[in-house]
Parts: sequence; C-alpha cells; structure tokens
Amino acid sequence: MAYASDYGYGGRIDALYDEEIGSRMSGGHYLDATGAALYWNSQAKAYAADLTAHVFGNPHSANPPSLLTEARVAEARRGVLALFGVSEETHELVLTRSGTGALNLLADAFPWSANSTFAYTLSNHNSVLGIRSVAGARGAAHGAVSEEGVEAWLAGDAPEPEFLPCADGGAGACKGGAAAQVSDDVSDGASDAPSAPSSLFAFPAKDNYNGQLFPLSWVARAQAKSTSRRTWRVLVDAAAYVPTSPLNLTEVPADFVIMSFYKLFGLPTGVGALIARREAAADLRKTYWGGGAIFLATAALDWHAYRGLPDRLEDGTLPFLDIVALHEGLRTGTRTRCVPTARARLRGLRHANGAALVRLFGRHGDADAARVQGATLTFLLLDPRGEPYSYRAAAAELAAAGVYVRSGCTCNPGSCYGGLGLRDEEIRRLAEAKHHNWTNWEWIQVTRPSPSDPAKTVDVTLPLGALRASLGAMSRYEDVEALAEYLERHYVDRAPDGAAVNAVALAQPDQC
Ligand SMILES: Cc1ncc(COP(=O)(O)O)c(C=O)c1O
Repeated sequence: MAYASDYGYGGRIDALYDEEIGSRMSGGHYLDATGAALYWNSQAKAYAADLTAHVFGNPHSANPPSLLTEARVAEARRGVLALFGVSEETHELVLTRSGTGALNLLADAFPWSANSTFAYTLSNHNSVLGIRSVAGARGAAHGAVSEEGVEAWLAGDAPEPEFLPCADGGAGACKGGAAAQVSDDVSDGASDAPSAPSSLFAFPAKDNYNGQLFPLSWVARAQAKSTSRRTWRVLVDAAAYVPTSPLNLTEVPADFVIMSFYKLFGLPTGVGALIARREAAADLRKTYWGGGAIFLATAALDWHAYRGLPDRLEDGTLPFLDIVALHEGLRTGTRTRCVPTARARLRGLRHANGAALVRLFGRHGDADAARVQGATLTFLLLDPRGEPYSYRAAAAELAAAGVYVRSGCTCNPGSCYGGLGLRDEEIRRLAEAKHHNWTNWEWIQVTRPSPSDPAKTVDVTLPLGALRASLGAMSRYEDVEALAEYLERHYVDRAPDGAAVNAVALAQPDQC
C-alpha cells in the first residue's frame, strides 16, 4: 500500500516484508519494535548457512576453528564500530550480554569516588537507574534531573545540575553511604587513576516509553562542564534510538554508549555493547575478573594480569556463535532506518460527542515533532467522558485481533508515571499496601485538587501504565492502520469500563 513516498525503501517495503518476514507473522501486525526488532528471513538463513559451513571453536585456543572465531569476532567489532562511524583507533567496543549487561559493567567499572556524582534524567530506562545503587555504594552522590534542569545546568555556571528530591521530604541528590572503593588494580590497558574525580551524566537518546528524542548536543555541553576538579563523563543510552536513527560518534563525542543488538536487527539475542571513547575506557576498572579475558593469574597469591582492552572489561568466553550472527545483522540493520509515523490517524479518532479517543504521550503535539519525537505511539484510550479504559484489557484484545503492542510502563518509571501525573511516593505506597503483589497492578487511587474547586480535593483513579505501539525498520503503514481500525471499530463510543479499580483482572502481570 503506497501511503507516502518518504519511507518504504523506494516503494519496496511490501515486497521486502513478504520476502523477509512474510508468513511468519501469520497476518499479524507487529507494533513492538522497541521491544525487539524483527529479524529477516535472509539473515536467519545466512546465519544457519554460516554455522553449517564452518566449525567455530573457542577463541582462546589456537587451532583453525578457534582462529576462525577470533577473526569473526574481530570483524564484528570493526563492523559495529563502523556502524557508529568510528574505529578501534578512537573507541573500544566491549561486548556484553545485553544492554543491561553493558550498564551493569559500566556501573561496576566507573571510577566512583566520594567526590563523584551520578546525574541522570528522569526519562531513563530502569537499567540506567540501577547505576545509582552502585554509585551510592561506592560513596558517590546521585540524583535525577528534569529536562528543564539539564538545560538550566548546561546554560548556566553551576557545577552540578539541580537534583530532584531523592528521598521522602528530602531535597537534592542522595549522598552515597560507603567510602569510595575504587579498585587500585591497574593492569594492562588501564591508565593511572584519573586526575580529576569523575562524575557521570546519563540520558537516553530516545525515550523507550514514549519515543521522545533528546538533544545529542547535551553530550559536548555536559563534557564542557568539566573543570580541573571534576571530569564529567557522558553516557548515552542508545538502545531505543539506534534501531530507527543512525548515531555517528565522530559527531556525538559520548564517553559511553550502550545498545542491544536484538533491538537493532532481531538476531542474535544475548549480545549488547558498551562503546567507550578510548580515553574514558582507560579509567574503567572492573571488580570481578575471570576466564579467558585474564592473561595470567596466581592461585594463592592475590595477583592477576589482564590481556588488555577490551578483554580487560569482558568476562570469560564471549558468546561467540551469537557474535558470528552479527555479520548478517549488520548487513540488514544498516539498510533499514526509515519508519512510518501515523500520529494524525490516532489523534483523529473521536467519539460522537467530539471527545478524543486517544491520549498520546510524548511530544507528538509539538510544532517541531519531527525533530523531537520518534516513531513511537504511547497512548491511553479514553471513554466519551475522558476517563481511561483498561489499557491491559485493550492490549489483550488487540493481541487477540492480531495487533501486537506493549502495555505497562516499559521499564521507564520516570516517563511513565510522570506522564500519568503520578508521584513516586504514591507508587511506593501502593506497592507496600499490596505487599508487593503485582497481580492486578493497573489502577491507583490518589487524591488530587478538585477541577471545579481547587481548594478542595477529590479521589481519582488513575492508570499505572499505557499502551505502546513502537515502529521500526520493518513496520508498515498497514500495521498502524490495523491498530487504528480496531480502535475505531471497537472503542469509539464504547461504554465506559465502569469502576476502574475493579477493572478486569488479567492473569499475566506487565513486565516492569
Ligand atoms: C532505552 C533502553 N535501555 C536499555 C534497555 C535494556 O536493554 P536489554 O534488554 O538488552 O538489557 C532497554 C530495553 O528495553 C531500553 O529500551
């Protein structure tokens, strides 16, 4: 179906889809590209052919199968760096188990000290939020910053951004508890400890919940806040961004970038990456060590020596058969970066009384939406009175009708709860009241100022998540149209759900 000329590989999308996804989808409409990309049939076949044509051995041996693996791993490293416009001359590629694995590694290896700060924006995935526990345990301060807070910090003279309260009734960043425990195990490839204590500023290039895009110019501007007393390193979480937009690290000098390959081209799963500027990588010191990444170790004497970067940051034997699969993925993943958007179609859905059916989150309404909003449609369905329908029931109904979306908060509590108007304490209180029982986790009753008389309060029931239709390289307008058609047919002028707190109990709880 030709809806527009600005996407679709020069009109080839339909033929390409039939060839590369085809009957596997059984007529379904996949709208969960940020969850995982669709791998191509040709990619899977070429991978299978590669495995059946060769013997790949453990890369730490020195026989032909192992040398073949070593060569393929080296080729994959070069290919991934080339995808980001850089090479091993300037950047290290550390292969990890996942995007979360890359963040876990960075958290562990970052040179935290009692003079460090971990500053992160509210819109981060919880895999980035988890860094704060490590930073805090090593004595560093940590705190969340609003988007406006970042802009004010970068535009002003303050050495640190203004932090949002990190504890009930508190103000500002949380101070770390323990003394600094920066490892002094300086081995091959690692520099001496950095002269100025390092702090880390983290933001996602694209919000995985609502698809908002953040200014990559923040990277250089935050680095420019460094002084002789503190080095600001910048982490860009590109896991949700790179599947739909190229990222050139010669233009964006991020110290650390993390990503996940299954989000980029579907196959393999189980491999992620930490891409680090060499200068920043040299400051990283991992606590645990082991496996073939170690060149020598002694059993009784507490001593070991690493092979060098990047092995110094990798543990044991890499998932080498998965890494072999990167070859084909890189071929497809670099070809496909144009995605349709269909915000107007969803926003046009109205009940007979004129009320909008769809409340979209993110920056779809901005005048410059093309610049600040990615191809993700995160939304609630509203009844004719403006009250939300059950998002979990809607997700289940859509799935039964062959339209596959995600529901919940998609592991991004800052964007999700913030967009829904919920406060962190309210979420915690509800979880405690329910004794951390996550079944029926869909609604929360909270007190808000009355719309008719702000001096008074009213109890309102709000949803704890939304629906996310995320588009990727193999999304078609038909997929968004199938969603819109279903909503038009089954939700426009549908009767309200009734008492939201008693809404449908679904067997499967949402995943974060
Ligand atoms: C923005 C973002 N960061 C990090 C992750 C974690 O990646 P992984 O699933 O590979 O651990 C995700 C996964 O959804 C993500 O969307």
